Amino acid sequence: MTSPAARVPRHIAIIMDGNGRWAQQRHRPRIIGHRAGARAVKSCVEFCLDNGVQALTLFAFSSENWNRPSDEVGGLMKLFLGALEREVDELHRLGARLRFIGERARFAPEILARMQAAESLTAGNARLQLSIAASYGGRQDIAQAARALAEEVAAGRLRADQIDESAISARVALADLPPPDLFIRTGGELRISNFLLWQLAYTELWFTDTLWPDVDAATLRRALDDYAGRERRFGLTSAQVAGHATGGTT
Ligand code: FPP
Repeated sequence: MTSPAARVPRHIAIIMDGNGRWAQQRHRPRIIGHRAGARAVKSCVEFCLDNGVQALTLFAFSSENWNRPSDEVGGLMKLFLGALEREVDELHRLGARLRFIGERARFAPEILARMQAAESLTAGNARLQLSIAASYGGRQDIAQAARALAEEVAAGRLRADQIDESAISARVALADLPPPDLFIRTGGELRISNFLLWQLAYTELWFTDTLWPDVDAATLRRALDDYAGRERRFGLTSAQVAGHATGGTT
């Protein structure tokens, strides 16, 4: 029998969609929805800490989001900076290790410096690995891994025939974490939208119509309960998976 603890996803990855619609429903500017979304991030982090989830990766800003109207991009940057100024000490106190994945060079120096400071401050924490995907794209992530491998081959440190799945896995973002067990997308769209493409290969997918700012512990509990009832086969048969679970060989 699999123990209840083994049924808690070690790593959850979330596309936090629906902030704009949440604001529109209230006839408010979109940035109000993003602010409400930031509050939902806090309760999601608390939920993960309370439930023994070891890693949480949040898609805060995609490579494509730079093309949104400039007032929305500017509002989001202000929101990120404010969150970095206000929340990092508390996250540190709670034992969260914070890191950022994506093309960080595109951010303003002020934000960049805060990101680096948050990563250094929290580097030794182990209770929750909290990763924020910012200016992130899954294809870009795979492309930079390919570029790194090509450079190693060109430098004579690696042979082309040594490039296998594990070589790529070691060079994409979050290489030191287990890949996400559970992917959640809120806001009703049924897409992966260029998030963690390599890392999500065997991840269980869970979608909800709930808009991100309305997500609370009850929503996340439903996702975890659904996950706990699923059989993960990783390409094996059910019988093989049952053999693994009881310690048998297949
Ligand atoms: C998608 O909703 C959400 C975003 C592009 C931004 C996510 C940002 C936050 C949740 C706020 C703060 C985050 C951190 C980590 C402090 P959308 O705007 O595409 O919604 P829509 O589909 O309803 O328009």
